[in-house]
Amino acid sequence: KKFRLAVIPGDGIGKEVVREGLRVLDFFEQNSGGKYSFESDFFPWGCEYYLEHGKMMDEDGVDKLRDYDAIYFGAVGFPGVPDHVSLWGLRIAICQGLDQWANIRPVEFLPGVPRRLNHPEADKLNWVLIRENSEGEYSGVGGRNFTGRGPGKEVAVQSSLFTEHGCERIIRYAFDLARTRKRKKVTSVTKSNAQQFGMVLWDEVFEHVSKEYPDVETDQWLVDAMAAQFVLRPEELEVVVASNLFADILSDLGSALSGSLGIAASANLNPERRTPSMFESVHGSAPDIAGKGIANPIGTIGSAALMLDHLGLQEEAEQLNQAIRETTRQGYLTRDLGGTHNTEEITDAIIDNLGKI
Ligand code: NAI
Ligand code: MG
Repeated sequence: KKFRLAVIPGDGIGKEVVREGLRVLDFFEQNSGGKYSFESDFFPWGCEYYLEHGKMMDEDGVDKLRDYDAIYFGAVGFPGVPDHVSLWGLRIAICQGLDQWANIRPVEFLPGVPRRLNHPEADKLNWVLIRENSEGEYSGVGGRNFTGRGPGKEVAVQSSLFTEHGCERIIRYAFDLARTRKRKKVTSVTKSNAQQFGMVLWDEVFEHVSKEYPDVETDQWLVDAMAAQFVLRPEELEVVVASNLFADILSDLGSALSGSLGIAASANLNPERRTPSMFESVHGSAPDIAGKGIANPIGTIGSAALMLDHLGLQEEAEQLNQAIRETTRQGYLTRDLGGTHNTEEITDAIIDNLGKI
């Protein structure tokens, strides 16, 4: 089988880490005995493209991606282009345009990685954050300059949009996933004391859906208390489902607690498989370290494992995750994890470990 991949390296370290992920995919292809291959088409979209063409991607960009088996994405955003322009012009445009409504963000506590989380059982933690990826706080509803009463008087409105359909499908996704896991627990996060419309709807849908899953344990938290809970009672968490903004924030917290933003992988899924899903690390383009060859490629390589799994190559996905764990266990660490290895050396070690499996 030939898998057709749309590759969007994007900006900053996005380009550096996607290159590494593709080296890993090459390794799999070469060792597949002709069983499968990857054919990559590159799309040069991002901030440089914007500065040249005045747009982050082609007008029909989303349509150009429609027929691929998957999209492999680096990161977007660079000084010189406002962040809201670059994010909305590319990443959000693709996620929403292709209805990738479920963003899956596993948080793994890898061996050999210095922990930011001081917990005796940190090695056993294995969280997965489920982020609503199509609406909520990132609905784009609102506008600037509502009063127009002159300088210093501007009013901006930014609305959150919650639909019963949108809440139900992401919450159901979380329950279905929880069922496949050891602990069988879903924690829902809102702020429904202060956000009295959309988030109360979310809570009601959560309670209603949970009745269909009597075998799954549930828990409901307000986001501020949840942030503390991540640090204080991490053993209470397994599958955590939250809105677009809250899960975005909590996943950076989760990945930092597990070591670094650089190791967090993610999948933007269209679970019905009507459109291609997109695989990318959680981190951004990290302009502060771009071009130095020191970015941690594990988040993006781990995202390739999620992509392999999605493409039906479960065994390969498991092998890749195993090779990543073996690599950190052996002490191959980039600077964000207190090590001295560079980007390529981490990939070399992962490929080396894959060869031994
Ligand atoms: P960031 O994730 O790019 O960087 C935050 C910090 O973590 C920086 O100190 C960076 O050096 C470090 N870091 C991130 N990834 C790393 C890696 N793989 N290895 C080692 N260190 C790593 O977030 P920041 O600085 O807030 O945003 C930079 C740009 O990225 C902005 O333009 C922002 O809009 C964009 N962004 C894009 C995202 C995407 O494409 N999905 C997600 C988040 C931010
Ligand atoms: Mg983020």
